[in-house]
Amino acid sequence: MDTAVSTPLTARRGGPLRGRVRVPGDKSISHRALILGGLAVGETTISGLLEGEDVLHTAEALRALGVKIERGNDGIWRIHGVGVGGFASPAGPLDFGNSGTGVRLMLGAVAGCPIRATFDGDASLRKRPMRRILDPLEKMRARVVEQAEGGRLPLTLQGARDPIPITYESPVPSAQLKSAVLLAGLAAPGETTVIEAEATRDHTERMLKHFGAKVVSKPHGEHGRRLTLTGQPELEPASVVVPADPSSAAFPMVAALIVQGSDVTLEAVMTNPLRTGLFTTLKEMGANIEYLNRRDEGEEIADLHVTTSQLKGVDVPPERAPSMIDEYIVLGVAAAFAEGTTRMRGLKELRVKESDRLEATADMLRVNGVSVEIEGDDLIVHGKGSVAGGGEVKTHMDHRIAMSALVMGLASEQPIGVDDSAFIATSFPGFVELMRSLGADLS
Ligand code: S3P
Repeated sequence: MDTAVSTPLTARRGGPLRGRVRVPGDKSISHRALILGGLAVGETTISGLLEGEDVLHTAEALRALGVKIERGNDGIWRIHGVGVGGFASPAGPLDFGNSGTGVRLMLGAVAGCPIRATFDGDASLRKRPMRRILDPLEKMRARVVEQAEGGRLPLTLQGARDPIPITYESPVPSAQLKSAVLLAGLAAPGETTVIEAEATRDHTERMLKHFGAKVVSKPHGEHGRRLTLTGQPELEPASVVVPADPSSAAFPMVAALIVQGSDVTLEAVMTNPLRTGLFTTLKEMGANIEYLNRRDEGEEIADLHVTTSQLKGVDVPPERAPSMIDEYIVLGVAAAFAEGTTRMRGLKELRVKESDRLEATADMLRVNGVSVEIEGDDLIVHGKGSVAGGGEVKTHMDHRIAMSALVMGLASEQPIGVDDSAFIATSFPGFVELMRSLGADLS
């Protein structure tokens, strides 16, 4: 991405939002479909792949590791996998841009191959913790040859010739960490087990099974899971249909709730319960969100019908965080338009996302006249039913801060600007056009 020139954008209050739209494919599933396609032997096809910059960086990294990837004019992606352990040494560093998911999952995939690769990313990604991924991978016999301070990017990993299976109790609720260990475990003989105290999104487990691997998932404690993968499977190529991303649907959804007179349908949104914490929370706040035409296409999906709603403040329990970890920023916007206080508990992990999202969300709200506090790991928003606006929001290279601020500006009294909208393309290409097609005033 060209970060030299920033592209400011402003949202203004206008008429109601109306229409039927389909947001792009799920980011988590898109990364995983490419990676597992790369590790299967033969041709995998993917339709509905998110063609955002994060996912395109993963595709580029896989190509550099010897996987043949083509995009047909029909929009179908064809991946010619090289088999588990079959990656070739890349000629240069692998650049993951802004994507934590891309780099962390690929660290796991490379850890089980006897090759050396350098992983790098943009200024935001270089600040994010990688030690949490490297610790279990080192136990599996991968070796970190070079790293920036604190195990950060750029780093060079020497994958294991004979990786060993481990049982790993995850110290943080992170689907990326779990997935990295499972992907490395593909190349290890015997069983690799990950124990998580709080269940995180399960797309890796589901997709591993779809590609023919054996993964057993058992409940663990009150909210957790224990996952066991049988290593060295012959991954079979598969056909993957990527559903619409609930984390992207969140933006037009909240916009429709707060812009008066709106009536919006979001088509074919994935409703995997490990991703729908935001929808649950908004309903508790009084949102009119109807699930229509529910179906199961490997993942549960539904068309979501949303109309403007009078929202009230709620208490969001910490155990819900993994199922809505990317949605707290836009929930902050909904909370600002609600009547009463919303307390979002247990948001420690937000500090290590594309930006420090706890601080950045509080700043985004404050510069627009919303009363907000951070207490420990909790974010507290005092909603008044309306937002003054008029602020200029710093996006800190974070796509979701940019989109949330623009959504807020569609219903605030004064316009809201963002300093840079370029990073929206990492996860939601076409965001501006899609929102305009519903009637949003963005310029
Ligand atoms: C993701 C996991 C989450 C989430 C990210 C996507 C994934 O991160 O924030 O946007 O696809 O596995 P953590 O694993 O750090 O919780």
